[in-house]
Amino acid sequence: MRSHFLLAMIGTFAVIVGAQTQEGFISLNCGLPVDESPYDDSFNGLTFTSDSAFIQTGKSSRVDKSLNKILGKQYLTLRYFPEGRRNCYSLDVKSGTNYLIAVSSVYGNYDGLNRDPKFDIYIGPNKWLSMDLEGRQNGTKEEIIHKARSNSLDICLHKTGETFPIISAIEIRPLRNNTYVTKSGALKLSFRVYLNNTAGFIRYADDVRDRIWFPFFGSSYAQITTDLNINNSNAYEVPKSALRSAATPKNTSGPLVITWTPRPSNAQVYLYMHFAEIQALEANETREFDVILKGNFNHSGFRPTKLKVFTLFTEEPMQCDSRGCHLELVRTPKSTLPPLINALEAYAVIEFPQVETSISD
Ligand SMILES: *[C@@H]1O[C@H](CO)[C@@H](O)[C@H](O)[C@H]1NC(C)=O
Ligand SMILES: *[C@@H]1O[C@H](CO)[C@@H](O)[C@H](O)[C@H]1NC(C)=O
Ligand SMILES: *[C@@H]1O[C@H](CO)[C@@H](O)[C@H](O)[C@H]1NC(C)=O
Ligand SMILES: *[C@@H]1O[C@H](CO)[C@@H](O)[C@H](O)[C@H]1NC(C)=O
Ligand SMILES: *[C@@H]1O[C@H](CO)[C@@H](O)[C@H](O)[C@H]1NC(C)=O
Ligand SMILES: *[C@@H]1O[C@H](CO)[C@@H](O)[C@H](O)[C@H]1NC(C)=O
Ligand SMILES: *[C@@H]1O[C@H](CO)[C@@H](O)[C@H](O)[C@H]1NC(C)=O
Repeated sequence: MRSHFLLAMIGTFAVIVGAQTQEGFISLNCGLPVDESPYDDSFNGLTFTSDSAFIQTGKSSRVDKSLNKILGKQYLTLRYFPEGRRNCYSLDVKSGTNYLIAVSSVYGNYDGLNRDPKFDIYIGPNKWLSMDLEGRQNGTKEEIIHKARSNSLDICLHKTGETFPIISAIEIRPLRNNTYVTKSGALKLSFRVYLNNTAGFIRYADDVRDRIWFPFFGSSYAQITTDLNINNSNAYEVPKSALRSAATPKNTSGPLVITWTPRPSNAQVYLYMHFAEIQALEANETREFDVILKGNFNHSGFRPTKLKVFTLFTEEPMQCDSRGCHLELVRTPKSTLPPLINALEAYAVIEFPQVETSISD
């Protein structure tokens, strides 16, 4: 399974009317002229501001006009860094809070040179990723879950070759403290999906934390859905729209299998599985299954709660074998129904060994 972020305006989500709380959200449209800031995104209602208050360096530009109709507004302007090897944003956060941090870069031939940039992105002193925009006509979005270690978060772009680093958007969302807790390190998203055979993705305001959920469906799955309200109140706050459908195996006596390859293949993996019973069970019916991650995790006799989410997750990091990760939901002999799953998220650990210190410390 592969998660692919499309910055293009595809999807079937609705225009949001009316305000939802965006408390603690930082939504920067990089390179946006100050006199156009702030604005509410017409698609999802998120309030974007210019990045100019958070960085003193770099220059603003715009992507090629041909992308105006394809990309969301936050990706049409950008900031590029012709000077210096390292340029940093300094953002106000709360020390000890876990944040979902996303950066997007769309080259859009802003300089007319048709030369896709390559550069690195750091969080403070620690390398987060290498950004290579070759062949990424619509840009790319990278995200990580990271606990702030001081009240300032530095996102830094490092020049690594001939091309100038660029950035289009920075989106930071506080998460609940008791969620996505790791033994050490930050979490890089492998995928976050809800089991539905449609094409639309889900994010804010359906997801109050503004996580993006892509639909995923395997050819050996059958779908069940409900129109009933599902109680999603646990710490993970999975959007209700992501829970209203679920996959079961087409072969009702067989297991439901989900496999993926973490990168790197020996990565430490964390998995979050969200279940809710969305079928009306008769008094003589039972849905019970074992949740097995070969060699790592075995939760036996699990029964999804009626119209209420339950999140099963790995408290210890797991390591999958050389063939990848293999999740199996196996019907128990007691069960009269096949296993189901509504949504799941997988992450790989990135260690950030260098101590973050800000100048004011
Ligand atoms: C998380 O913990 C930090 C520091 O302990 C605290 O300031 C913050 O309010 C907490 N956030 C939530 C959502 O509980
Ligand atoms: C970019 O997005 C457009 C519109 O969604 C799509 O037609 C095109 O194939 C995408 N290009 C790439 C390289 O993914
Ligand atoms: C999930 O699938 C059902 C049936 O195909 C569809 O009606 C529903 O809108 C889908 N859910 C989302 C969030 O797209
Ligand atoms: C949802 O579940 C929570 C926790 O079990 C409970 O406190 C709350 O009352 C439920 N909400 C509804 C609308 O049933
Ligand atoms: C369905 O699954 C059961 C149990 O794994 C297996 O014995 C059977 O051969 C499968 N049937 C089909 C048609 O694949
Ligand atoms: C449950 O009961 C209904 C009617 O009472 C019956 O038709 C059905 O076959 C039973 N299902 C199972 C799994 O025993
Ligand atoms: C999972 O645990 C159950 C109950 O302890 C056991 O019956 C089953 O064989 C285990 N499965 C695996 C693959 O370890």
